Amino acid sequence: MRFIELLRDRKPGPVPIWLMRQAGRYLPEYRAVRARAGSFLDLCYTPELAVEATLQPVRRFGFDAAILFSDILVIPDVLGQWVDFVEGEGPRLEPITDAPGLAQLDRERVLRHLEPVLEVVSRVRTALDNETALIGFCGAPWTVATYMVAGHGTPDQAPARLWAYRDPKSFNRLIDILVDSSARYLNAQIEAGADAVQIFDTWAGGLPATEFDRWCIAPIRRLVEAVRIEHPGVPVIVFARGACHGYARIADEVAPEGIGIDTGFSVERARDELQPKAVVQGNLDPLALVAGGDALKAGVERIMEALADGPFIFNLGHGIVPETPVEHVAELVELVRRHAGG
Ligand code: CP3
Repeated sequence: MRFIELLRDRKPGPVPIWLMRQAGRYLPEYRAVRARAGSFLDLCYTPELAVEATLQPVRRFGFDAAILFSDILVIPDVLGQWVDFVEGEGPRLEPITDAPGLAQLDRERVLRHLEPVLEVVSRVRTALDNETALIGFCGAPWTVATYMVAGHGTPDQAPARLWAYRDPKSFNRLIDILVDSSARYLNAQIEAGADAVQIFDTWAGGLPATEFDRWCIAPIRRLVEAVRIEHPGVPVIVFARGACHGYARIADEVAPEGIGIDTGFSVERARDELQPKAVVQGNLDPLALVAGGDALKAGVERIMEALADGPFIFNLGHGIVPETPVEHVAELVELVRRHAGG
């Protein structure tokens, strides 16, 4: 499996491609499955439907990897926090804002309630051919905590940052719960058949430099160590969006096999500073994919010129957006494969 070999041995060659949030509303076949499921969480917990959603983009575009269809917020849900996804508004949670609020979280529930998701992993692994990798994932403790504390997405993650300043000890207990639950979850995904795992720290960029070590790097390092102890050969990709100043430190201090770069990071810096240390993954602007045409061609060209001679996985710099025309995705795959072929 070329995708996994690349992450293990870092030998440059044909550039694999997959896209963050590749299963989703831009696909008409996803919208049909979504309508059958009722709620978004029902979709995540109904193996038959979640398997279908996972496989749809691979079937349509021939990506080199499938990513498990689930969400980073299943962890608060299985811990016992109330979570819902409101159409057009995004996730809503019953906020946990202080130490007494932590009492409602029950770590014992985690793996039992995640069984349907683990079943999705094993069924997808069976359905995929041997050349297509299956990526498992979870949210990084910091990012998941920002939703648990605010009760929704926030532009500045203020509620979590405030708790962390006011009472770092109890906030750290929340982070501990998330490190522990996420580690068990990732290990269980690997045991069910995931070939690699990705950790999404979508809100890492909101952390001040002084807090970055404590709430981004340290929890991710503990999580990765817990995975490595159980599954030393399984590659880990860390994507810390907006934390460009910290990518080299993540590469040094967490030492993941793959490091995701967001749209804002220069590909030349990624080549010089990150490729010697890890496989780089990224970073086409999702809006260049919406625009298509010259913007798409130029974007792919620039990225491939800088990064394709080193260890590299083509991806977006953040998740694909619902407005993306499906033809543009097919064209992107074609452009990357043509370039990679010489
Ligand atoms: O295709 C894939 O990548 C696999 C599935 C996946 C989803 N969410 C499905 C989803 C993955 C890997 C995620 C990760 C995720 N979820 C992140 C980290 C990556 C990122 O994009 O930053 C975050 C922050 C979330 C939390 C989340 N889930 C939000 C903020 C939203 C609402 C906004 C939106 O994009 O719709 C979701 C809902 C969600 N997760 C959808 C999908 C397909 C859309 C829900 C629907 O179909 O109604």
